[in-house]
Amino acid sequence: MSRYLVKSFGCQMNVYDSERMGDLLAAAGHDPAESPETADIVVLNTCHIREKAAEKLYSDIGRLRQPRADGSRPVIVAAGCVAQAEGEEIARRAPQVDVIVGPLAYHRLPQLLEDAKTARAIDTDMPAEPKFAALPPRRVQGASAFLTVQEGCDKFCTFCVVPYTRGAETSRPLADLVAEAEALVAAGAVEITLIGQNVNAYHGGIGLAGLIARLAEIPALKRIRYTTSHPRDMADDLIAAHRDIPKLMPYLHLPVQSGSTRILKAMNRAHTRDSYLASLAALRAVRPDVAISGDFIVGFPGETDEDFADTLSIVREVGYAQAYSFKYSPRPGTPAAAMADQIPEALKDARLAELQALIATTAQAFNTATIGRTCEILLERPGRKPGQLIGKTPWLQSAYITAPDARIGDLVRVRILDAGPNSVEAEVLPLQPESAAA
Ligand code: 5AD
Ligand code: SF4
Repeated sequence: MSRYLVKSFGCQMNVYDSERMGDLLAAAGHDPAESPETADIVVLNTCHIREKAAEKLYSDIGRLRQPRADGSRPVIVAAGCVAQAEGEEIARRAPQVDVIVGPLAYHRLPQLLEDAKTARAIDTDMPAEPKFAALPPRRVQGASAFLTVQEGCDKFCTFCVVPYTRGAETSRPLADLVAEAEALVAAGAVEITLIGQNVNAYHGGIGLAGLIARLAEIPALKRIRYTTSHPRDMADDLIAAHRDIPKLMPYLHLPVQSGSTRILKAMNRAHTRDSYLASLAALRAVRPDVAISGDFIVGFPGETDEDFADTLSIVREVGYAQAYSFKYSPRPGTPAAAMADQIPEALKDARLAELQALIATTAQAFNTATIGRTCEILLERPGRKPGQLIGKTPWLQSAYITAPDARIGDLVRVRILDAGPNSVEAEVLPLQPESAAA
């Protein structure tokens, strides 16, 4: 019996794909391994979004190809977006890799592993046949599960590799998504996060708001989230869904990348600072407590001190509950990599540090404002202290409770007592008597 390990390096889509490759390998008769040392097959599911993420592949391969005490080494699979973008280069730089497979072809992994017994197998096709239809049913999940509804991107932001590695925007058929969601719920999921590179561009006949409304009809599904959204696709019906569908959590990850409309134009974002702020204002009008999260890039080519000041000011103006920020990383083949006025690394470092310090203060302010609220949290993992558990609030805060009787996967009612920049502390509220709850 051979054992496999899938290591995920990237975004939620990458995590979902890793899980699905695990499903495929399990369906082909393999068992999960505890660690790379005991695995016969190691899948490295790579990310190409920034240079640092891509470099991790080669250091991992270096480690895996060292013979073990018994002289063996695992079959090495390079999957994901680096495999898609740089398949030939991987084959040259790391000849020990047995299989190279891109994110749109991994349903063929069992066959590729067979082929690799004779010679290295490479598959970086973007096949027309639907990958999802060829995947086996999902195995039992935790209480919170991802569901890919849309893949690829047609927007071509000038810094981004995604349109090249994940291909054109495609949405999965509604019926397939309802079936997969029902299977996840039957297997114990109470929360589903709909994912896609441009999840709010989901069309599938009814749009993302329609899909959310349909999934909200599944009785045992308690919470719905979605990520990542694009500001251009924040449709009115999606905003209205935040008012009308109680199961849709009050949280929106809406990357803006920069607060400067001039830089947004150079990024080909096709939205402005003002149009972005207008979408958030419309959302807050219907759902005032919504937590806003975002992504930022500092040091995009040509970014001046004034442009960066605009980024700082939009962070203050929005009051992000949470945000991810990155130094611009030139990616091969993207338009921005060839632009003049690349920003020196030291200046990127300084801007990143200043931005992250500011985001920490807005996140702290958001969390502080939730002190005293009562809400449900979905318990996800044990804390470090005895009896401590960590769950997620509706606003996606990590909430720490002490509750020796509660179990992972439970939804428990709590009151928020205290707040830090990255988490809150809460107390469990006693169950309401039936009559009081009615
Ligand atoms: N350099 C730095 N950050 C990038 N991102 C995407 N491409 C790059 C790049 N070339 C960031 C964006 C995006 C997030 C997933 O990664 O902020 O929203
Ligand atoms: Fe990349 Fe822009 Fe598409 Fe997002 S919208 S995946 S940043 S090209």
